Amino acid sequence: MKPVQVKIGLVVLLALPAVNLLWQVSQALQGQLHSLGPDPGKQIVLELGQWALWLLLLVFSASPVRLWFGWRWLVVHRRLFGLAVFFYYGLHITAYVVFLLELHFSEIIEDVLERPYVTMGMMAATLLMPLALTSNNFSTRRLGRNWKRLHGLIYPATLLVIVHIIWIARSDLLEPLLYLLFVLVCFAGRSRRLLRVFKGP
Ligand code: HEM
Repeated sequence: MKPVQVKIGLVVLLALPAVNLLWQVSQALQGQLHSLGPDPGKQIVLELGQWALWLLLLVFSASPVRLWFGWRWLVVHRRLFGLAVFFYYGLHITAYVVFLLELHFSEIIEDVLERPYVTMGMMAATLLMPLALTSNNFSTRRLGRNWKRLHGLIYPATLLVIVHIIWIARSDLLEPLLYLLFVLVCFAGRSRRLLRVFKGP
């Protein structure tokens, strides 16, 4: 398969969850059978957030996966997955403003100040923004060594996203804690020193 075909295939795959959600929304609006449950607005916010998180974890795991298993595939397509994270968390925030705040923009500030999980989400979203904006060849060339430094923001951003969902989960902590474990394992995997300890000199 040609690289461009792989890329197109990936774009289609990455768009599928959004297309499926759009389909479910149109079914709900027509009063047809849908899978959005009794609170469709909230379900849409949750599903978009989940896709953003899963894709973020995929991007996060690209380097350690290459180090551990020699798979370059994720690293090669990391930029595309990163843009998909941006797409899904952008839609997640839009859905939150449309369905949960019902477009009362003034309530965003209130929510950010009063609900710590919204504060965490907002901080994560803010840190992820420059990563999306500089995921292009021009920025890579222009920023040089600083590009890598800037993209180190993925660490605090991912941790903030996990705090965001731990705060939401409150009592049912198993899932967010598994995500945290995954992030810590990946983080350890990025350390070449640790890898040398496992592999020997
Ligand atoms: C301005 C930034 C953000 C806001 C205002 C926000 C808001 C929300 C809200 C209102 C919920 C639903 C909470 C509930 O159950 O009542 C939620 C859930 C969620 N958010 Fe965000 N979010 C933000 C950023 C992010 C980002 C950047 C990510 C991931 C990359 C993310 C991932 C998630 C996930 C995975 C859930 C589902 C948690 C669960 O399954 O219980 N959020 N967010």
